[in-house]
Amino acid sequence: MAEEKKSNPFTIGNTAQERGFSYVPDQYVIPSSSRPSLDPEVANVPVIDIGKLREEGVQRANAIQEIGNACRDVGFFQIVNHGISQSVLDGALSVASDFFKLPTSEKAKFMSSDVCKPVRYATSIKDGIDKFQYWRVFLKHYANPLAEWIDLWPKNPPEYREKMGTYSAEIKNLSLNIMGAVTESLGLGPKYLRNKIGDGMQVMAVNCYPPCPRPEMTLGLPPHSDYSCLTIILQSSPGLEILDKRDGNWRLVPKLNGALQVHVGDHFEVLSNGIYKSVVHRAVLNSEKTRISIASLHSLGMDEKMGTAKELQDDNLPKKYRESSFRDFLNFISKNDLGEGKSFLDTLKIKY
Ligand code: OGA
Ligand code: NI
Repeated sequence: MAEEKKSNPFTIGNTAQERGFSYVPDQYVIPSSSRPSLDPEVANVPVIDIGKLREEGVQRANAIQEIGNACRDVGFFQIVNHGISQSVLDGALSVASDFFKLPTSEKAKFMSSDVCKPVRYATSIKDGIDKFQYWRVFLKHYANPLAEWIDLWPKNPPEYREKMGTYSAEIKNLSLNIMGAVTESLGLGPKYLRNKIGDGMQVMAVNCYPPCPRPEMTLGLPPHSDYSCLTIILQSSPGLEILDKRDGNWRLVPKLNGALQVHVGDHFEVLSNGIYKSVVHRAVLNSEKTRISIASLHSLGMDEKMGTAKELQDDNLPKKYRESSFRDFLNFISKNDLGEGKSFLDTLKIKY
């Protein structure tokens, strides 16, 4: 009898999570030492009122200090009073959710496993290539400058471009203010990166995690840090966990209505010469309802290299990282398996 070729039947458009399987196929089962808890501890993460950035004097100075402390101690914080209305947030989540409910034929227009495509629908991380599969479906698209990309975004659902476009543009503005506060907190001033980031890349990762029959055996996304300078996430329900480096425990980011989540990415760790740390995080699942998250990743331009600020290096603190661009990250991700613990940031570290 001819030996059957072992191949992965779960490719984009045909995965267990898209088909709503009532069991978890072997490819999705992660080693027991890496499995999540169904009753995780809740993280005590900073909640920052960034309305204070719009004030002057001591209020603003306090907010900048809080942001700096959060970037240094946790690499993550939640923000409130961010100025984006609840209807804009709800609108973005609602068109995202409606997109994933469309028939496969509609989503197929965007299906691609090429990580360099400016708009693409895919599943897991690199389906059929990576060792493990993850219970995630996603649509990724570039968003800055909006006019250059929006015509490539889905036309269906009919309000997708308008609602996601409004959200993207408001998040882009917000990211500039927060990044200004971050560079100010490093002593580099609020305008340090403004022009480069203003013209930089904004990648929207619109994630959908369908209910999973065995959420204790699988993950939506494996542990990773984002390559970005800064990532801002909006979610429909909890499911993001962050790694506490002090004790090695995973903790769930608590739900806070109307809040957005801010991650320090690898490129801010590089800029800060390691004073700020990119946060390692993962997405966990539940068996009851679909979770939607919209991650907006902000970085410099495609080929613009992010290096460590000269001001933050001296004889006592030599430069710890090599410079790199978004394209360098894309090359890395196309060749490496995140689920095997490969980290882009590790490849940038200079060994003395
Ligand atoms: C990501 C990510 C987390 C989430 O898209 O990079 O980490 O909560 N998402 O979906
Ligand atoms: Ni991430």
